[in-house]
Amino acid sequence: MVYSEKVMEHFSNPHNVGEIENADGVGEVGNAKCGDIMKMYLKIDNGVITDVKFKTFGCGAAIATSSIATDMIKGQPLSEALKLTNKAVVEALDGLPPVKLHCSVLAEQAVKAAIADYYRKNGMNDEADKLDVHCDDCECCH
Ligand code: FES
Repeated sequence: MVYSEKVMEHFSNPHNVGEIENADGVGEVGNAKCGDIMKMYLKIDNGVITDVKFKTFGCGAAIATSSIATDMIKGQPLSEALKLTNKAVVEALDGLPPVKLHCSVLAEQAVKAAIADYYRKNGMNDEADKLDVHCDDCECCH
């Protein structure tokens, strides 16, 4: 299997690994295909993601995608972070081998789950419900 240099870089030296105490939003998602789990923590100030950390119990591709996805949403307003797609993450990594595409879906879902948690904590349940991520939305295995 051939990984791009970007994937290897982020896998060997992942950015934003860890936890945030008293995070404003926490999202945990699992990948039904392989059982891997990703947890994402967000610090949100005035609608902007000021800090983000993640923990991934998963494969190298999942670690690389979480690393780059957290880089991509850090400092962004929620509206921009919500536009993050697994496709954009894969492109930013200069591609993933086809059998590893499903791994990139975890990152997108974890971001959405963490933002949904933030909305729920702030009484914005309708907004949160819109973010429920469904497997059908992902482009990896359809
Ligand atoms: Fe599980 Fe990659 S094999 S996320």
